[in-house]
Amino acid sequence: MKAVALVGGQGTRMRPLTFTTPKPLLPLCQRPLIWYTVERCKTAGIEELILSTGYKPQLFETVVGDRVEDVKISYVHETDPLGTAGGAKNCEALLDSTFIVFNGDVLTSVDLSDLIRTHESTGASVTIYLTEVEDPREYGVVPTAETGEVLDFIEKPSLEEAPTNFVNGGIYVIERDILALIPEGVPYSFERELFPKLLEDGVLVVGYKSSSYWLDVGTPAKYLQAHNDLMSGRLHVQPPGTESDGLYFLGEAYISPDAEVVGPVVIGDGVRVESEVSIKGPVSIGPDSRIEGPSQITRSVLLGGNSVGRNSVVEDSILGERAEIASDCLVSEFAVIGAGALVGSGNELRRGMRVWPGVEVEDSAIKF
Ligand code: GDD
Ligand code: MG
Repeated sequence: MKAVALVGGQGTRMRPLTFTTPKPLLPLCQRPLIWYTVERCKTAGIEELILSTGYKPQLFETVVGDRVEDVKISYVHETDPLGTAGGAKNCEALLDSTFIVFNGDVLTSVDLSDLIRTHESTGASVTIYLTEVEDPREYGVVPTAETGEVLDFIEKPSLEEAPTNFVNGGIYVIERDILALIPEGVPYSFERELFPKLLEDGVLVVGYKSSSYWLDVGTPAKYLQAHNDLMSGRLHVQPPGTESDGLYFLGEAYISPDAEVVGPVVIGDGVRVESEVSIKGPVSIGPDSRIEGPSQITRSVLLGGNSVGRNSVVEDSILGERAEIASDCLVSEFAVIGAGALVGSGNELRRGMRVWPGVEVEDSAIKF
């Protein structure tokens, strides 16, 4: 069986990180997010994953290449966004029979083989993986009958309009002949157009409910949560590298004997952690980063090539590649610093503040 991963979106809610890296390529514990989808494909015996690209397509080819172990990777690029169903339609020439579609930003431990078996045994035209969430407003809400038959599909409803907390988990098994119903070369949506149309026409769409781990990595807060969940074992995937006391090393790193590093922490190649630094996981420190002490890093992600100066605190925040934080700074409460940005001494970046890539924040320019 083949699968399509939709990776063409711009990831606007994840800006500024997605200005430089498309969301499915953002590292999760120093592996690209899409790597986790490839792993699921591998486990389920899917032989080819087609990446439906739009935004920064060449980066996908560079990072992922044409094969990951047993899984062949191919690419179909769209010059103008075709939407989710349009993106899959664009892969039609490469699809020969029943196939799977993944949203490229979904992290899950769902049993794909069981999803496929359910699809086959019910004879559905489409089977949608469903997961239960507390607040369904940012997802596709999918009420089902007791038989599993999907009754309705309501994309991003208000709370009053949401008849259930079971939502579209962003994985579908689809019969190839359904592609004929998607118009060619124009934007078309699974969620807002195709699924409602199938239901209206009486086509059998089945929901597959699962309580497996599931997260849509759509916002900086969810991105940090993904790191937390992976490192605490909820995803049932080991962090990469060689483990020692909750620290996962991906190469050679220097950690001063006078630093305090409490795992889980993933530490990239060439990282330097100086004397009197305190790191409390879950934290991921990308390659070639340098942390001077005294300073503190807590529940944060540093993408790599970063520096953090003396007396600075980074907590619950994300530093894009090569972002530098000078001395005496507080970076906290889901602040996101874009690639190559330079934050001068004495700044306080808090409450979801985002610094665009390459921006230089002058000393003591931002305080609360
Ligand atoms: N090729 C292509 N073309 N891919 C696209 C396009 C496009 O025009 N637009 C979005 N994508 C890709 C994105 O890159 C992403 O991986 C995936 O499609 C889903 O887009 P999101 O922008 O992340 O959608 P969402 O999170 O708001 O909602 C979707 O996912 C939820 C679950 O994660 C919907 O499918 C909801 O129904 C669902 O509940
Ligand atoms: Mg999403």
